[in-house]
Parts: sequence; C-alpha cells; structure tokens
Amino acid sequence: MNKIILTGDRPTGRLHLGHYVGSLKRRVELQNSGEFDKIYIMIADAQALTDNADNPEKVRQNIIEVALDYMACGIDPGRSTIFIQSQIAELCELTFYYLNLVTVSRLQRNPTVKNEIQMRNFEASIPVGFFTYPISQASDITAFKATVVPVGEDQKPMLEQTNEIVRKFNSIYGQTLIEPQILLPDNQACLRLPGTDGKAKMSKSLGNCIYLSDSADQVRKKVMGMYTDPGHIKVSDPGKIEGNTVFTYLDAFCKPEDFRKYLPEYANLDELKAHYQRGGLGDVKVKRFLESILQEELEPIRMRRKELEQDIEGIYRILEQGCEVARKAAAQTLGEVRAAMKINYFSDRELIAEQARRYRTDK
Ligand code: TRP
Repeated sequence: MNKIILTGDRPTGRLHLGHYVGSLKRRVELQNSGEFDKIYIMIADAQALTDNADNPEKVRQNIIEVALDYMACGIDPGRSTIFIQSQIAELCELTFYYLNLVTVSRLQRNPTVKNEIQMRNFEASIPVGFFTYPISQASDITAFKATVVPVGEDQKPMLEQTNEIVRKFNSIYGQTLIEPQILLPDNQACLRLPGTDGKAKMSKSLGNCIYLSDSADQVRKKVMGMYTDPGHIKVSDPGKIEGNTVFTYLDAFCKPEDFRKYLPEYANLDELKAHYQRGGLGDVKVKRFLESILQEELEPIRMRRKELEQDIEGIYRILEQGCEVARKAAAQTLGEVRAAMKINYFSDRELIAEQARRYRTDK
C-alpha cells in the first residue's frame, strides 16, 4: 500500500509557533525523510468559510499567507502538493454521500465541534455547514487515500469520525476507502503550545501568538512579556515550573546544544529548572535564553519568507498546479466511490442489459 500524507490548515491568519511545533515542523521532516509516496498539504479555505461565511475577504487574503508560511518552513512544492480545498469540487460530492453515513447525534458528540460551538457562541444558530465540517474533513482525507495525517491534538476527534465513516462506507459498499492514522507530536509540550499569556492555546483572537513571520523585534517583545510564575517576584524567590509558559516553550524548543551556545553555566534544562525552583534565577535571564533559541529557529524562516514574498505570482502558479494534481487524485477516488455505490449507471452494462431483458416484450 502506498504511504500517503494529507494534512492542512484553515487560512484564517498567518501561522504561528503553535502550528509550527504542533504539526508544520513534523511535516517538513516527513517530507524530507523521503518515506512517503505522496504528500498533500491543503489550504482549507472551504472549511474556514464554515464559520466565516460573513467574512470571505479574511479567508481570501490569508490563502497566500499560509502558502508563504508553508514554503518558508520548508514545504517544497517539488516534493509536496500544496493545494486549495475549494478548487477541488470532487470533495463536495464525496461529502454529499458521506452525509448519509453519519447521524446528527454523532456530530453533536464530536468534542472539537462542541468546543468550537461554545467558543464561537453559536449555540442555537449553528450553521449547518459548520456542524457538518467533520464529514467534509473525512472527504479531504479519504479523497487522497491518506494513510497518515499529521495534525495537532485538537484534530483527534476528526480522525476518529473519519475512520467511522470509512468503516461504514466499506461495510455497506465494499472495501473502497482507506482508514488513516493520526500522527501527533511526540513531545508533550508540543502537543498544545500555550499562548504567550499562559492561556491554554495560541489563538489569534486572544492576541497571544508568536507568528512565524514576526520580526526579530516583535519576537523579543513577545518573549519578554510572557507569562511566568506570578508568585516569583524577587530573583531570590523560589519559582514554579508548572504552568510557567517560558519553561513550557523551553520544553518544546530547547535542544541540548543550546546550553553550550547560549547558557554555558547550565548543563541542561533540568539544571536550569532546578535553579529556578530553588530561587536565585531571574525571569529575564530565562526569557533571554528562550529568545535566543526562538530567534535561531525563526530567522531562516523569516528570511526565506521575505524572498518568497517577492514572487507572489509564482506562488499562485504553484498553488494552481497543485490544485490540478490534487483534482486528478480526488477524481480517481470519486470514480471508485461511485462504482462502489453503483451510481455509475452509464458504464454499468450489467444494469442496463438486465433491465432491458426484463422489459423487452418480444422475448
Ligand atoms: N481542521 C483543520 C484545522 O482546523 C484543517 C483541515 C481541514 C484538515 N481538512 C483537513 C487537517 C484534513 C487535516 C486533514 O486546522
């Protein structure tokens, strides 16, 4: 069986460090591993519209931002197909058939949907398209016969729902679709990177993000303003590590060699943490260390992005070519789905011949 990756993001803003450690960095590593037969990276504009129907301009403007962030991080259009969801009409048709395989109560139990309904204050006025987006996401994944879906932890319920749809489809219509596997970050801190304010998640609406395209100056200011331990007032006070955002980020980003480079008086992160907990280590010193690490990671991304920004027309051409490749793959699967469902009437010789025989009067 081919090893195929499909993953994507909603284009509602630039990508941030949460996206980066949660999935983006891993995708680039998987791409460069050469282990996969196909890699599809989808800009999920149609899904973004399910809760932004009144703000299509936001989605439209952010497609290029996400594409620039992808390529700046090392997604290589020569090795991965980057495409835009709405341009693949086949995905809508698949969704239309999958809608019949899922119950309303099953969707209501999807934890991600439940959570998002609350966050968006939809309550009684939930758009139907939004409510059913997990089904559309199952189409995204299955259309490309994805075997591996590298995403953040919040997408787990979407993968479970996809696998239920696959099993149901295959049990009714025969083995056609492939059950994908989720690939989560293996580092606990990367699973859900908190915002700079210590809130559970980086989110644009909370204004607690460090963007991949932030300038060095913006990164410095954001790191210096990060939430730490509010009880750690004087340098000599003992400090807490748990819930201390700066240490969570260090857990996510710090490599052993960073100590030699930026903080040689400590051997490793455990020593730094122990000193902080004992007292006598100031927040500013830890923040400067984190800043050095982040700047080193972000600088090449920032530089590549600046270059890519000089050829926006070229990026759109890459996206257009990606859409063509993606459309072919999705059309192939849709053909198989139609055949399995036996709604391929005009190429179904048996059906036509049998009915003709049954009705012909001059037998
Ligand atoms: N739901 C994903 C997000 O919010 C985006 C997405 C849409 C996606 N379709 C997908 C991710 C298919 C993985 C696979 O970021």
